[in-house]
Amino acid sequence: MKVYHTLSENMLTVNMLLSVFFLSGVSADRCGGFTPTFFSTTPKSIVALSGSCLQVPCSFTFTKAESDFDSGGQNFAAWIPSSRSIFYISQGFNNDQINITRNIKQRNCTTVFSDIKSTQETEYFLRIENSKFKATACSTPLQFTVQDYPEKPRIEPDLKDLKEHQSVTVTCSAFTPCPHSPPELTWNLQQDSLRQTEKNTDGTFTTKIQENITLSDTHDGYNIRCSARYPVIGGNKTAETEVTLSVSYAPRNTSASISPSGLVSAGSWVELNCSSRTKPPPRFTWFKNSEHREVKISVGKVYNFSVTENGEYYCVASNNLGNQTSSVILLNIEVSRVFIYFTMTIVGLVMLCGSVIIFEWTQKKQSDGGTGIMKIKM
Ligand SMILES: *[C@@H]1O[C@H](CO)[C@@H](O)[C@H](O)[C@H]1NC(C)=O
Ligand SMILES: *[C@@H]1O[C@H](CO)[C@@H](O)[C@H](O)[C@H]1NC(C)=O
Ligand SMILES: *[C@@H]1O[C@H](CO)[C@@H](O)[C@H](O)[C@H]1NC(C)=O
Ligand SMILES: *[C@@H]1O[C@H](CO)[C@@H](O)[C@H](O)[C@H]1NC(C)=O
Ligand SMILES: *[C@@H]1O[C@H](CO)[C@@H](O)[C@H](O)[C@H]1NC(C)=O
Ligand SMILES: *[C@@H]1O[C@H](CO)[C@@H](O)[C@H](O)[C@H]1NC(C)=O
Ligand SMILES: *[C@@H]1O[C@H](CO)[C@@H](O)[C@H](O)[C@H]1NC(C)=O
Ligand SMILES: *[C@@H]1O[C@H](CO)[C@@H](O)[C@H](O)[C@H]1NC(C)=O
Repeated sequence: MKVYHTLSENMLTVNMLLSVFFLSGVSADRCGGFTPTFFSTTPKSIVALSGSCLQVPCSFTFTKAESDFDSGGQNFAAWIPSSRSIFYISQGFNNDQINITRNIKQRNCTTVFSDIKSTQETEYFLRIENSKFKATACSTPLQFTVQDYPEKPRIEPDLKDLKEHQSVTVTCSAFTPCPHSPPELTWNLQQDSLRQTEKNTDGTFTTKIQENITLSDTHDGYNIRCSARYPVIGGNKTAETEVTLSVSYAPRNTSASISPSGLVSAGSWVELNCSSRTKPPPRFTWFKNSEHREVKISVGKVYNFSVTENGEYYCVASNNLGNQTSSVILLNIEVSRVFIYFTMTIVGLVMLCGSVIIFEWTQKKQSDGGTGIMKIKM
């Protein structure tokens, strides 16, 4: 007689025949070897948070006896835990704690589990009865996992390959087992971002906040932190997530420096150094202004050379997003020390010769007048 309860009663004979063929295929379910004709549909993966409620979207279908269901009058529904006899509606629940929607007639078995406990059983079978129809969805148990801590919210899109000037809509979304008390979402972007709880295609819910940002170089390396606070019985449970923005940008703050700075002497070595802030790293090109045109003289960050003449130098930093030119460095050759030495020597010699001539001349004048030496001694 137990077999009698397993399926929609009218289908018993058919199922007994079919069972011969399907016996091996359905051994994993609780249908006792008979081909099921009544199926509940719930999401494959449902995650519940202990202390919160869980709303499970649910619908059901038949392969037989549909007219019996429709004409059978008032419907009774219950979820029967797998530990009990799943073909007796009295073994199941439909109460304040496990509350099935009243839309059974519309084939809607959406259910709210109002206080999920981590010890709670996680496999239930849907049983529906009316005056003509009695069936358990023995091959499609409702299963869910109970977690003590919420999952981290998700930040989208992937913020790893962005470019400056690009406009992106950043979304932080959190799983929402209980749409009646959705999580509070906060982040370190705009504080007044609008929170929305949306229904997913499988009937579950997601809560999210969004902001549009136009990217610039200052966003590179910026951490976006988003936190979801779930109201649960006796407090809140929080989960946080963080992503770092990676933004490519054209060269900025391009500058050229020279070492040693100041005057250099002809024939000495100088080092020109180009710097720029950019992502990805730039290529550097050195140019020299020479008589109304620019000459490319070197590629690379540092350019070393031996000075031969005065000149104007600048560099250009470039990457795939653009280029930027540094200001011009003026290179002035110092007047040589040797040259100064010679000049001073000559000036010295000239002065020496001059004094000697003056001396001789005064000597001569003294011997003429006899007062020259006395004057020098004074
Ligand atoms: C299910 O919840 C509704 C309110 O959401 C309530 O009116 C109804 O009585 C509950 N059903 C049971 C069986 O407790
Ligand atoms: C089923 O019922 C629930 C609760 O009344 C409702 O939110 C949901 O939209 C219904 N689903 C369908 C598919 O009508
Ligand atoms: C972000 O931009 C999209 C269009 O790109 C627009 O539809 C949306 O309303 C904007 N959202 C906000 C929060 O400004
Ligand atoms: C839970 O969070 C709310 C804000 O969402 C806050 O007002 C309340 O004090 C928190 N409760 C506890 C017990 O931390
Ligand atoms: C870099 O350039 C920006 C303007 O593009 C300027 O505001 C900033 O001060 C510069 N930074 C440095 C370190 O020179
Ligand atoms: C020239 O370049 C080399 C390496 O590229 C470096 O070691 C040296 O200090 C630079 N400067 C001068 C003035 O030679
Ligand atoms: C070039 O200049 C930057 C700073 O402007 C400095 O950090 C770097 O060490 C210099 N490179 C060389 C090779 O002198
Ligand atoms: C810099 O960019 C301009 C166009 O944006 C291009 O014409 C020029 O050749 C570039 N210069 C270098 C050195 O890449």
